Amino acid sequence: MTWTPDSWRTKPARHMPADYPDPAALGAVEKELSSYPPLVFAGEARTLQSELAAVAEGRAFLLQGGDCAESFKEFHPNNIRDTFRVLLQMSVALTFGAAMPVVKIGRIAGQYAKPRSAPTETLGGVTLPSYRGDNINDMEFDAGLRTPDPQRLLKAYGQSAATLNLLRAFAGGGYADLHNVHRWTLEFVAGNPQAERYRELADRISEALKFMEACGINGREVRSVREVDFYTSHEALLLGFEQAMTRVDSTTGDWYDTSAHMIWIGDRTRQLDGAHVEFCRGVGNPIGVKCGPTLAPDELVALLDALNPENIPGRIVLIARFGADHVGKGLPPLIRKVRAEGRKVVWSSDPMHGNTIKAENGLKTRRLDDVRSEIDAFFDICRAESAYPGGVHLEMTGQNVTECLGGMQDISESDLASRYQTHCDPRLNATQALELAFLLSDELKQSRNRAG
Ligand code: PEP
Ligand code: CO
Repeated sequence: MTWTPDSWRTKPARHMPADYPDPAALGAVEKELSSYPPLVFAGEARTLQSELAAVAEGRAFLLQGGDCAESFKEFHPNNIRDTFRVLLQMSVALTFGAAMPVVKIGRIAGQYAKPRSAPTETLGGVTLPSYRGDNINDMEFDAGLRTPDPQRLLKAYGQSAATLNLLRAFAGGGYADLHNVHRWTLEFVAGNPQAERYRELADRISEALKFMEACGINGREVRSVREVDFYTSHEALLLGFEQAMTRVDSTTGDWYDTSAHMIWIGDRTRQLDGAHVEFCRGVGNPIGVKCGPTLAPDELVALLDALNPENIPGRIVLIARFGADHVGKGLPPLIRKVRAEGRKVVWSSDPMHGNTIKAENGLKTRRLDDVRSEIDAFFDICRAESAYPGGVHLEMTGQNVTECLGGMQDISESDLASRYQTHCDPRLNATQALELAFLLSDELKQSRNRAG
């Protein structure tokens, strides 16, 4: 069972493109990437693991969110800033509700590759390879552009590095200072009821800071007031890229995937004997595992044996993505089994991927009502099963898109086409995301009062 960064290559790998026209060119790009600087440091991944251990123990809450798929087209500093600031706003609401730290992880700075339901797409009698994410091919339905191009990996690396650079500046350079809590509101959210609720919250925080300062504690000198810790994550789907970014940490001698702080295994690639589990078991980063309706309790325990044989708290985040109608049946047996086996995990809810529907005009969408009801069910189930509801995993953006239905803006099917910009699954817009944060904040407050 020896592990090497390339031991996954001997295992079956689902959802990876096998149709690069020039495998030697792909190999050359991977080799080049393996000499590039790491995007994150192993020490940061370890800090994240210790913060996730606090979540596993019920002392913190996890907020993970961002695009379904980042794209080259949407790469713009304003987009990065807006996603970051909605996450900040959400985290303020959650911190207030939970009265505990919120661990913030973006689906950002590397979230490009996508598993697809079919390897090909047929339009008007023409069949081409499916779009697999901007680091592999192009969304445009054109034979040349749909052909996997290894050069895209280099572009994705560069975009990830620039994104991360800006995020680090936002997180540590003053933008995220709590004194700026009023400035994070996005213009188009202003005027909505959530904006009003957020303003009230921001007023209370500002007052608390003033009180603290009157007492002689200078907030500007307190790191946790002045800066935030913000982590990155993506699905570890394209293993050639992940392998190229995997390095030995000089401090511990262990392997880390330096493409992101946390990586996760998708619901379609979590086969016990598959390449994705093989790769992930050998790196020291925190690992997410998507848990959907086809995952059996015994299989989950076998996955935990493979991925976390030493049962280290904070290493594993189990991300339940059943759908509002299925979570009640599917999740309790998993929680019971994990608890019976004494496994230390973070339970998080992805209320997006089990709730995707097709609108009449053919666009993929999700109803905010379904998203809310899966979150509600997740909290109820965790409480009933004496597990800690540790986090959420959302597809969202800071932009004013019209991709999910409902919410206070009451987006309808006929509104969808007006600002439908996603490169893959429908995302919550900033207003909808903030709305969910307040719902979660209420849930957490309730849990706190019960525990009380
Ligand atoms: C995703 O997170 O974008 C995704 C494809 O999810 P899942 O693996 O849960 O279907
Ligand atoms: Co998605």
